[in-house]
Amino acid sequence: MFSLTGKVALVTGASRGLGRVIALALGSAGARVVVTDLLVENEKIDKAELAQYSRLAVHFAETGGIKTESTAEEIRKMGSESLIFKMDVTIPDEILKVIAEVVEKFGRIDILVNNAGVMDNMALLENQTDRMWDRDLKVNLTGVYNCIREVWPHMMNQKWGRIINISSFVGLSGAFAQPGYGASKAGIIGLTKSVALEGAKYGITVNALLPGFIETDAIMLHKPEMLERIKNRIAMKRLGKPEEIASAVVFLASREASYITGAEMSVTGGADLFVF
Ligand SMILES: NC(=O)c1ccc[n+]([C@@H]2O[C@H](COP(=O)([O-])OP(=O)(O)OC[C@H]3O[C@@H](n4cnc5c(N)ncnc54)[C@H](O)[C@@H]3O)[C@@H](O)[C@H]2O)c1
Repeated sequence: MFSLTGKVALVTGASRGLGRVIALALGSAGARVVVTDLLVENEKIDKAELAQYSRLAVHFAETGGIKTESTAEEIRKMGSESLIFKMDVTIPDEILKVIAEVVEKFGRIDILVNNAGVMDNMALLENQTDRMWDRDLKVNLTGVYNCIREVWPHMMNQKWGRIINISSFVGLSGAFAQPGYGASKAGIIGLTKSVALEGAKYGITVNALLPGFIETDAIMLHKPEMLERIKNRIAMKRLGKPEEIASAVVFLASREASYITGAEMSVTGGADLFVF
């Protein structure tokens, strides 16, 4: 069950964190995996410009947190093919070129995992800037739309496709001091359902995955007392592991999930329950 042999998958934001583990899980299930990210190894970055975009991005660029190459290498060691592309989800022309190259090299594109996201804009409403609001929406929501638009014609022609959009449980519950993040993740759910309606007659399923708090390097940058507070709000009293999200992605990407579309799948350990 859940074999992805013969399928071609593309993951956005796969240099680190959830995206990286999702790419590995898809490779392990037999898919050829295209690893894409805004940041790839051995690329000269303009630190000042990157800092304007995301302070998390600067942190990981400076601390060796970009692992595109090793992700693709691990996938190859599992016996699956893997390609790497620098791809900014906010630039449609860049996405178009990457998809064209993937289809030229692999002949198809079956699975799109929209994982790329920014979550480092934390400020109360009175301290929010329009620039950060615009960034959150542009990357987290319009980025998902951009990628769907570019894979869509190929999936329509193939009459088969799986699109998995990484939203968040805060898309339903709200995100304190993260209005742009919360709105963008809620927007993904609306986009998922709308596109699922159109994909149904072409064999394309579109689903939203809503993780709870997952133990990625980005989340582990929170202070220990904050992590403790978070754990106490979760029914299972622990953070999730990236692999626990990745296995849900593999399921949604599989033939076995053929009748699931327009769904919002929560994988939260009960973070979205009324815990006391
Ligand atoms: N970790 C969690 O607890 C959690 C919970 C719910 C949802 N999520 C979502 O899961 C996804 C991954 O989270 P993570 O914890 O791994 O975070 P992360 O910050 O480590 O990873 C985000 C990835 O997206 C990439 N990215 C940022 N902007 C991009 C752009 N414009 N184009 C292409 N790539 C870009 C980054 O370079 C990075 O590799 C995000 O969408 C996040 O909102 C995470």
